[in-house]
Amino acid sequence: MGKDYIPLRPKSRKGSLRIWVAALIVSLLYVYHAHSSFKFWPAATLRTPAQAAIVSRCRSLEMKPGPPDDFHDRSESDRFVPHSRPHLVKNAKIWTGRNNGTDIFTGDILIDKGLIKGVGHFGSALLESYGPELVVIDAKNAWVTPGIVDIHSHMGNGASPALDGADDTNSHKGLVMPHLRSLDALNTHDDSYALSIAGGITTALILPGSGDAIGGQAFVIKLRKTAERSSTSMVLEPPYTINSSFPDPTRPPRWRHMKHACGENPSGWYEGTRMDTMYAFCDAYNTASQIKKQQDEYCSKALADEWDGLGEFPEDLQWEALVDVVRGRVKVQIHCYEAVDFDGIVRLSNEFKFPVSAFHHAAEAYLVPDLIKKTYGPTPALAIFATNARYKREAYRHSEFAPRILAENGLTVLMKSDHSQLNSRHLVYEAQQAYFYGLPENLAMASVTSNSAEVMGMGHRIGYIKEGWDADLVIWDSHPLSLGATPVQVFIDGIPQLEDAYVVEKPRAFQRAPSVPNFDKEAEEAVKYEGLPPLEPITVKARPVVFTNVQSVFTPDDAFGVQQLFSAADDNTLGTVVAVDGEITCVGACSMNFADATVIDLEAGSISPGLVTFGSPLGLEHIQSEPSTNDGELYDPLSGSGVPQIVGGDGAIIRAADGLQFGTRDALLAYRAGVTSGIVAPLATGVVGGLGVSFSLGAAHKLERGAVLQEITAVHMNVLQLMPGPSVSTQIAVLRRLLLHPVDGPSKEWFLKVTNGEIPLVVEAHGADIIASLILLKREVEHAKGKTIQMTITGATEAHLLAKELGEAGVGVILNPARPFPFFWEMRRILAGPPVTENTAVSTLMAHNVTVGLGVIEIWEARNTRFEVAWTSLASGGLSRADALALGSTNVAKLLGAKTPRKLFQDLVATRGGDLLSFNSKAVAILSVSRGLVDLL
Ligand SMILES: *[C@@H]1O[C@H](CO)[C@@H](O)[C@H](O)[C@H]1NC(C)=O
Ligand SMILES: *[C@@H]1O[C@H](CO)[C@@H](O)[C@H](O)[C@H]1NC(C)=O
Ligand SMILES: *[C@@H]1O[C@H](CO)[C@@H](O)[C@H](O)[C@H]1NC(C)=O
Repeated sequence: MGKDYIPLRPKSRKGSLRIWVAALIVSLLYVYHAHSSFKFWPAATLRTPAQAAIVSRCRSLEMKPGPPDDFHDRSESDRFVPHSRPHLVKNAKIWTGRNNGTDIFTGDILIDKGLIKGVGHFGSALLESYGPELVVIDAKNAWVTPGIVDIHSHMGNGASPALDGADDTNSHKGLVMPHLRSLDALNTHDDSYALSIAGGITTALILPGSGDAIGGQAFVIKLRKTAERSSTSMVLEPPYTINSSFPDPTRPPRWRHMKHACGENPSGWYEGTRMDTMYAFCDAYNTASQIKKQQDEYCSKALADEWDGLGEFPEDLQWEALVDVVRGRVKVQIHCYEAVDFDGIVRLSNEFKFPVSAFHHAAEAYLVPDLIKKTYGPTPALAIFATNARYKREAYRHSEFAPRILAENGLTVLMKSDHSQLNSRHLVYEAQQAYFYGLPENLAMASVTSNSAEVMGMGHRIGYIKEGWDADLVIWDSHPLSLGATPVQVFIDGIPQLEDAYVVEKPRAFQRAPSVPNFDKEAEEAVKYEGLPPLEPITVKARPVVFTNVQSVFTPDDAFGVQQLFSAADDNTLGTVVAVDGEITCVGACSMNFADATVIDLEAGSISPGLVTFGSPLGLEHIQSEPSTNDGELYDPLSGSGVPQIVGGDGAIIRAADGLQFGTRDALLAYRAGVTSGIVAPLATGVVGGLGVSFSLGAAHKLERGAVLQEITAVHMNVLQLMPGPSVSTQIAVLRRLLLHPVDGPSKEWFLKVTNGEIPLVVEAHGADIIASLILLKREVEHAKGKTIQMTITGATEAHLLAKELGEAGVGVILNPARPFPFFWEMRRILAGPPVTENTAVSTLMAHNVTVGLGVIEIWEARNTRFEVAWTSLASGGLSRADALALGSTNVAKLLGAKTPRKLFQDLVATRGGDLLSFNSKAVAILSVSRGLVDLL
């Protein structure tokens, strides 16, 4: 497509023949039309074909894009695949998307010819007319929704697994690139397509990256494989400009799409400032507006038949798409975070009179709803993340309450993946989180279906379950807003996408939207404090805290497991728990005769071990992309300059404890979500990591009682293919050398402790081949030293391939990310879990007695540990509550060298309304013996 792209510009020699043939056809069509309706220019027949073509082109410039009036007369989809069979999905609980997302009813859906032929109940005569061709699926009252629509994806532009040969998301060639097209880089070989379909995604808007102010044109695709296997055949309603074919001038044009970006990304990409970017926008829009003006003047002459000296239609290939923006014929998606950036775009849009379809990321939009409403034209939607925030300055004030606050201000909220920033397979999880933090159910559903379809100009055919709409459907194993909801079947254009889907049985309660906690106060404070509400808890010391209506109590046992201490038989036997200075003094039926007690009603809630976060730099980092807020990176001994002698040279070893930072927002947010401690290793860029530390997330500084739980936990190393620098074999050689013949210096003592079996060796590795080499190295060192080494593999994406061997070697695993994705080559062999595979990495590893924990990659994710654990436990089927809790707490601690369970697990979490792993509950208190307090959240 890129190569035979024919520009509109008539000057182009290459394109002239086709254009003139097309012009001829257009003029004939136009003449026909003129005859059939007298309203049109009566002198049509007097024009030359070329003049008629110009006139019809000029008239088409005034047409607004969208479906033609007779669109719904279609009896077959333009995407219908001949011989695909009709389906009847019966007994479905259907969320149609109608009535603001509130229309729900039980019935059947008939699909044929790529379309939804009807919704409701069908007479047997109609069904029989289909004969044996009709495939009948009994949904057994399962939820059925429209296919999930992702308004922001880079799928195919940057392939998964990522390879340099397909790194096509951002052009580096300039700030203003309206002429580029994401379609030209739409790699059809990307593992993401099938994985995201397995999450219910059927349609995505593929945007160029945000490195440039004007990144280029975007395209809506359907994710299924087409018979042609081409990029273009995936595009939904390709704009006619895709190949310069002049459309029938009586039909409205189709929507085009364009990406813009403001703020940090263009500044960073081009070493510029916000001022440079805004000027680049202004200059570009000025140019486009000038061209539009010339065209309009040209056309007013042409339409008045003033042909003398008129010359050629004024246009410029580089600017034609932006001219269409100024004509209001392009859906403009703008990556824009901060108030200052919205402000600039609002001025720009009003100066040049173009509408904005949506602001994306839009971290501060909830703080400036009135500013957003000042944008020229209809108010833009906000396409945002749920909890992904604070990774850079402009995202620092984002709030998990943004979706509900935006909706309360009458703005349209969309949840988006920015795939593979977030894995779009789990886009529905974003809607679930938005719902958890207060976005109403109907709007949460609409945020990934009907509303995203409308905002991308495709609401006339996708995003709803309505007769005549595209047959894109998802049948779910549970209510789509319940945590872990997974498709059991996905239709795209009427074609079922999942073969032999694996389905996990879920409790009946999962068929309803969960009843979620109340966060009214927190949402109000988010606005009041402009995104930085105080997060410090209220500490209670030397006074009893009484928890009433307790449903269950889980605590760590002495063997690093989790045990259930108390469980109420039913609502009438809910228990009481008393704690003083963090220590539980009574569980079950306790006396409540305290004069000075704080009483907390847990409303059938629970007390569980505090979760432990590992894998992100939490504790060493405030804002990922701001070096001045972070501990920084280690010297890499294998880099050219090596480690300076004063640090210890090749024998250096760095302690994370020395760089700890307390009271970061992500730490406090995680604390408020029941993550009481973290284990972190120094931020290494090479093979040598350093010494890990475990610390409390609730402490204000290092000198506070119980702030540092264990000064040194383990020796951390990294063996990764994706690391720049020397080979994997070199990295393993370093590890072998340090284990068998430690280098003199501060590290020697610690490597000796590893080979003596006193402290674990924790190695980040993903690929099965590397993990196998590490198992062999362990054997080799144990043979040489005569002692058993404690080894833990973190990351461990492909560990499931060696489950048996890891079990036999006694090597534990921390899966990070918990929900796997083939980001890199060494991570490509994921075990995807239901509906793709029966087993998950967790169930496979546990079946071989491998101790498994879960990690997170970025610091903002730490707060979501409870949901990651719940999600994994649901997908892995049949884990007990205690085993599930252990995945995110005791197992993590044990695998990373926390010495005694008592030491680390003197922290417990009290949750109201349900247990820590449920969407019904909110963490309300932390009980900490090590810190001698109860924190009220
Ligand atoms: C749509 O639903 C939301 C939340 O339930 C409500 O606040 C809003 O008023 C509704 N809008 C319309 C047009 O009914
Ligand atoms: C242009 O693209 C459309 C949509 O893919 C296709 O139907 C049409 O045949 C193409 N026209 C030409 C001239 O290639
Ligand atoms: C896992 O451990 C249990 C209990 O010790 C044992 O019965 C079982 O055989 C082990 N399974 C494997 C695959 O080693």
